[in-house]
Amino acid sequence: MPEAIIGVIGGSGLYQMEGMSEVEEIAIETPFGAPSDTITLGKVEGVSMAFLPRHGRGHRFSPSEVPSCANIWALKSLGVQYVISVSAVGSLREDYEPRDLVIPDQLFDRTKSRVNSFFEGGIVAHCPFADPFCPELSAILLESARALGDVTVHKGGTYVCMEGPLFSTKAESNLNRKLGFDLIGMTALPEAKLAREAELCYAVIACVTDYDCWHEAHDAVSVEMVVSNLSANVANAQRILRLAAQKLAPTREDVSCRCESALASAIMTDPVR
Ligand code: ADE
Repeated sequence: MPEAIIGVIGGSGLYQMEGMSEVEEIAIETPFGAPSDTITLGKVEGVSMAFLPRHGRGHRFSPSEVPSCANIWALKSLGVQYVISVSAVGSLREDYEPRDLVIPDQLFDRTKSRVNSFFEGGIVAHCPFADPFCPELSAILLESARALGDVTVHKGGTYVCMEGPLFSTKAESNLNRKLGFDLIGMTALPEAKLAREAELCYAVIACVTDYDCWHEAHDAVSVEMVVSNLSANVANAQRILRLAAQKLAPTREDVSCRCESALASAIMTDPVR
């Protein structure tokens, strides 16, 4: 089986990774079925990367339908240690503007009907999830984004993940702002939870495409708005990935996050009873 250190899950607008060398396309079957699409393996700046389009090429899976268990399982089976998600988000605050990038540091779960754990059927585990995004991977993404010099990137923010697929009402958007959330999207969950259970480092490059529907001076979010703002920041996200690939340690022995041992004391089930 071929291997990769970095896994990239591309969101809306990002269906292939530019500039990969030694490219190979592989179809993987997992105990949870097939992932969203074939995985593209290759090298970016000499580092092995696996690229998976979250919604499938041609955008076939809605956020609720994305086979996240299969996606995370498939990346883990390739030896991936770092999963970087590129995701379109709406902004819930004035200073996070469309076309800016954000490396969020908190997550709030407002999804309703998604499988969000690998553990079931007799094995019970409760992983720590206070810090849902890997702080080390997030720091490298931020540093890489800042190194570009021509991109506005914000450090931190709370990403509220809604079920969708419809966008929020104004009442929901205003309440989300009052609750202190900064970004809204539909895809960071269950991905972040499954990545933690799989003991992978996981972080998000959030691409701001709109002001959702709360901003009186801006039109309410539409697909057209999301797509037109995405093309600019997806190109920047790929530049960040290129820089980050060079900075990521080839093994996680050199990093101090605890993602790699998330299951160490999480399993409640007695193995002998
Ligand atoms: N993705 C991009 N913009 C969004 C929004 N306003 N709400 C939810 N998901 C989004």
